[in-house]
Amino acid sequence: MKKNIINHLQALALMLVAATATTGCNKSDNETTENNGQAMIDCIMTRTSIRAYTDQPIGADSIEVLLRAGMAAPTAVNAQPWHFIAITDKAKLEELAAGSFQPQMLQQAALAIVVCGDLTKTLEGVGQQFWIQDCSAATENILLAAHALGLGAVWTAAYPIEERIASVSEALHLPSTLIPLCTIVIGHPAEQPEPKDKWKPENVSYNEYGK
Ligand SMILES: Cc1cc2nc3c(=O)[nH]c(=O)nc-3n(C[C@H](O)[C@H](O)[C@H](O)COP(=O)(O)O)c2cc1C
Repeated sequence: MKKNIINHLQALALMLVAATATTGCNKSDNETTENNGQAMIDCIMTRTSIRAYTDQPIGADSIEVLLRAGMAAPTAVNAQPWHFIAITDKAKLEELAAGSFQPQMLQQAALAIVVCGDLTKTLEGVGQQFWIQDCSAATENILLAAHALGLGAVWTAAYPIEERIASVSEALHLPSTLIPLCTIVIGHPAEQPEPKDKWKPENVSYNEYGK
């Protein structure tokens, strides 16, 4: 599968080079960087939670891209205290749905990725709790990568809700050292909600609080 991903990335790079050549586009490095930067910002600003999906499957290459995006996230002291469980098996998705308060999403989804904190890989002492931020950063990376691939996704919480942690842990036979932070439900979008405008200047201060 690794070879497939590399082929996939090489194909994308070749397409980019070909597109540049055929459009006679002689963009400077600065212009290209600016365009890539704008594409990244657009991806962040247009992502929105998608909760309805078509029955189209998601290929193994795309799943690996999503998992690689998750693992590219920053973590405290680079501990990478996580484990990802990618679920495409319909019976297992049904099992997760049975314990969920939003069963319909999991029944429709082609894929769910359960992001778990791995307590055998966390820092010691007070630093142990960094697994929550680390796994949250991975989750956001996966949501953005899904959007970039044209997929729809939504973060559904497990941690810190005891009954959701118990239900996911039971369905996936998690050892007690793995704590499910969330289930990312993913599929080809069957809805196109407008991204929410969350910009609130009153939530920002400059240089000190209230200024
Ligand atoms: C920690 C966290 C837990 C969430 N849990 C759920 C959930 O259980 N079910 C759900 O439908 N959406 C859940 N969401 C998605 C939020 O409802 C959604 O991100 C929020 O309404 C903003 O909408 P947007 O993602 O479209 O910008 C969760 C998001 C976060 C960050």
